[in-house]
Amino acid sequence: MIQGLIQVVLGIGFLGLTHALYRARQPNRPGPPGYPIFGNLLQMGSRPLVRMSEWAKKYGGVYYLRMGFIDWMVVSTPEAMHDVLSKQGATFASRPHQLVLGDILSNGGHGVVAAPYGPRWNANRRFFTSALSKLSVQSYEDSLLHESRHLCRNLMVDMERHGGAGFPIHRHHQAYAFNIILTMSYGVRYASAEHPRCAEQLQVNDDIFQMIGPKYFIVDLLPFLRCFLPHLERNARKLHATMYGFIRERFAQFCQEEEDINARIPNTMCKYLAAAVRKGELAEDDAHVTLGEAFAAGLDNSSSSLTWLTLALAAHVDVQKKAQEEMDRVVGRDRMPTQNDLPNLPYLRCILQEATRFRGPAQVLFPRATTEDTVYQGVTIRKGTWVMPSIYAAHHVFSHLEDPDVFRPERWESNPKTLMEEVMGKQSTRVNWNFGTGRRVCPGLYLADISLSLTLAQAIWCFTIKPGEGESVCLETMGNGTNISPPNWRIRYIPRGDYVKDMLQTEDSSTRARTLE
Ligand code: HEM
Repeated sequence: MIQGLIQVVLGIGFLGLTHALYRARQPNRPGPPGYPIFGNLLQMGSRPLVRMSEWAKKYGGVYYLRMGFIDWMVVSTPEAMHDVLSKQGATFASRPHQLVLGDILSNGGHGVVAAPYGPRWNANRRFFTSALSKLSVQSYEDSLLHESRHLCRNLMVDMERHGGAGFPIHRHHQAYAFNIILTMSYGVRYASAEHPRCAEQLQVNDDIFQMIGPKYFIVDLLPFLRCFLPHLERNARKLHATMYGFIRERFAQFCQEEEDINARIPNTMCKYLAAAVRKGELAEDDAHVTLGEAFAAGLDNSSSSLTWLTLALAAHVDVQKKAQEEMDRVVGRDRMPTQNDLPNLPYLRCILQEATRFRGPAQVLFPRATTEDTVYQGVTIRKGTWVMPSIYAAHHVFSHLEDPDVFRPERWESNPKTLMEEVMGKQSTRVNWNFGTGRRVCPGLYLADISLSLTLAQAIWCFTIKPGEGESVCLETMGNGTNISPPNWRIRYIPRGDYVKDMLQTEDSSTRARTLE
């Protein structure tokens, strides 16, 4: 008993000493002092994003934390994002080892999202860049148009069903985004979010995003906790089984119907994956991981962006009025807008740019990791350091914009760029850091840009969007994951006239995707 106690005391003393030596060796690193063993972990509190912004204000645009056994570098200014993530691309391009995201959900870091930087990541990323290239997306743009119109019709029907009081909208946006991912991946779609398989997968998606965050990082930062928290692993494995059951089934189905699907949509992700599996370049399990990542990365980011965008519009009816005037001028009321109208709707682009800057789903990019020792502003950063780029801080705390906490699309009017142009343009003057930067920039950017633009255009053509009856929309919210789910306020969609109802009620069979029974 006494011997055990002595061992514990000696163990704690040793870790404390190691920690003190560690801090003594790093005297010039800005950042809050931490405690032995836990470092700054316990100081994060229940709202890590808020705490990280407070530290950024105190310690500057780049500061350092010790999180359990792991070093973190927190990058918060646009300049530093550009300096490290773009200019030193290869050094800051890896991902840290993570139990839930890497080992379990990505089958040991296969695929792209959680994969370490290297040839395997590069080879897998090519499936995304092929299936999500401008050319591939253009081959199913009519399906995107169909899905946004289908969404508007569902919103109108739900509005009638709720007697005008308004209703929570996020599920609609998830079902819409899921159909887009299904179309792009397998060439199929669901007619309704109420289809049991669709509903099941949307729930899986919700549960996964609960897991990709600080609560689950804890076992990566303090690995000895893994044996005390077996439920984390158990939950993740359960979700993995449900999600991959669906993916395996869909991939097998695609392989049976490949000819028919290729004739409808020539560049699905399954087409590229199936060819690589046939040639022996890719294991079938790896193909499943890639499809799983398209599902997780695409669905949540797209649907959350759309819900935030809608909430911002509901809180700013004046912005909608201006966009509707532009829409009436450019498109008129006899037809709905299409992709051909987008270049002529500059104010619409300003809204999208501002809405995604103002509130996006990813407020801290998925953690990066350094691939080698490096030095930034005189501070040595060791290989394997977790790099946490805080988009929220870059957009709000350190933004060069006037009143960055105000939603104001007009600020983009002197240069109304598309999302793609902003992300791929000059990084040193970039304002909107959604979609990340450097070698791991989001490969779904073009698809997201075109699908969000079309959906925004159609919603503006159809409706005036208002908060639920007697309610107001609060946009002041900071969640506690790396992705922030938008609040599920009730929203009213008021058709702009009978012509909208007539248009949405007419049959539209323009999608190229096959509807699943
Ligand atoms: C509005 C929608 C979207 C947003 C805001 C978004 C945002 C992001 C962000 C911030 C990253 C991390 C980038 C970095 O580390 O620098 C990312 C990565 C990624 N995104 Fe997106 N994304 C969206 C849509 C999509 C779609 C539709 C897909 C695919 C169907 C997709 C697939 C991916 C993948 C595979 C990665 C990992 C890339 C890598 O690690 O190499 N995303 N996305």
